[in-house]
Amino acid sequence: MNDDQSTTDDDLRTVDDLRALLGDLVLLASRSPSPHNTQPWSPRVVGSGEGLAVEVAVVPSRTLPAGDPSFRDVVLSLGAWIESFSIGAAAHGYDAVVETLPALSLLQELPISGRADPAKPVFRVHLVARTLQADADHTLPVPVVADPRPVANSAPVTPVTPVAPEPTRPPTADPAREATAAPPTPFTPDDVRNRAVYRGRLAGHPETWNDLSDVDLPPWLSLRRLDDRAMAYLSRLGIAFTASRRSVARELLQWLRLDARHPRYLLDGMTDVMLGIPAPLARLAAPATRRTGLRDPVLALAGAIGRGAESLERARSLRPLALSLAESSTESPTHLVLVANARLAAADDTTRITAAMDSRIGVSEPDALQAGRALQRLWLHAHSRGLSVSPHSELIDSPLAHGLLRKRLSLGRSDVALSVFSVGVALGDVPRSPRLTDPQPPSGRRAELGP
Ligand SMILES: Cc1cc2nc3c(=O)[nH]c(=O)nc-3n(C[C@H](O)[C@H](O)[C@H](O)COP(=O)(O)O)c2cc1C
Repeated sequence: MNDDQSTTDDDLRTVDDLRALLGDLVLLASRSPSPHNTQPWSPRVVGSGEGLAVEVAVVPSRTLPAGDPSFRDVVLSLGAWIESFSIGAAAHGYDAVVETLPALSLLQELPISGRADPAKPVFRVHLVARTLQADADHTLPVPVVADPRPVANSAPVTPVTPVAPEPTRPPTADPAREATAAPPTPFTPDDVRNRAVYRGRLAGHPETWNDLSDVDLPPWLSLRRLDDRAMAYLSRLGIAFTASRRSVARELLQWLRLDARHPRYLLDGMTDVMLGIPAPLARLAAPATRRTGLRDPVLALAGAIGRGAESLERARSLRPLALSLAESSTESPTHLVLVANARLAAADDTTRITAAMDSRIGVSEPDALQAGRALQRLWLHAHSRGLSVSPHSELIDSPLAHGLLRKRLSLGRSDVALSVFSVGVALGDVPRSPRLTDPQPPSGRRAELGP
């Protein structure tokens, strides 16, 4: 978004104004987080007159077929995109009404590479002025209800399967076409713009997770707390898995930009600065991210180290969760796992239950989209309190770490771990990640930056 005041809030009298506002919201939403900073969304303004809307398709070459074969992280980041868009819309007095489309549940049919197909958008979003929304509310399902269970840092969260609440969403005949109205939000466009992941050392901040009312978690989503030891152990297992699986490591290498001479340094992927890699190490490793000929020896070395680490780590055992949580220092960051309960999410609607069973994520894609919105709210909750988030998807990606994580949290059959992240006070500068939508240097300068 160029400037919050660039489009006046109260008089979108012309279609041009509406088009400009949608453009601004798309720009704001591009600041959303995505796995490896792939930015897998391709938004397009469609329609005419007052029927203008934004349709979003997925870019196949910006998905991670090796690291994210279920599209879990892609769909979560699309949900974060919607949340960011909605926060921008709310700041202008609008609700963003989202319609999920059939292609969202057919992501497995996407090619492995190539551009987005504008004929197959995964969702459509249009704006409704808040005053008009009040009249329309009774016809639209309300997607979120506050979760009464607090997540405390000082007191361990008992990892129990949540008790089924009264169903809060009316059954819909076709969940792929369900329209949902965004709730009012406590977060601002500046929160969306300035939030960033931090991968350096984090210090603890115990009270932050006691009150999550601003996050408005739906009842089928819960946050579970993981102890320091398990977090460190499972993360090591996850990293060893990533290093030892050639396809996953190769894909990661393709999204690393370890020096400013990488041609995509200012566009996407993860830079040396974002990853906090010391300059000498980044210089040493950078050629492997730019020259394909160097990748194979690097991958072979990483594979050998990863396999060795995996077999060493496998032999360890952990103290019971409750004991270990009680010992956790208030100085250490909080480790959280966002868990969806597929049974509660489906709310006895057989179509939704079937959709969850068909999805490789474990919950239906429309529900994973809602979870992505909640995840962005959680990360903004942290940001608005001066905290930073460090995600650890490797705990879910590695089958071994994932199995141990499920056991550690006593997850039930219907529980699906969607995201793992640590939160705390950043002990260094929080870096800003690039976006495809960032203003780029003039082409001459870009050529200078080239390989
Ligand atoms: C669903 C999802 C999973 C992610 N998993 C990881 C992860 O495992 N490790 C990590 O360092 N960052 C992870 N990230 C953070 C992204 O790398 C980050 O959002 C992206 O690089 C853009 O940076 P920013 O969030 O600071 O703007 C994840 C982000 C999302 C949305």
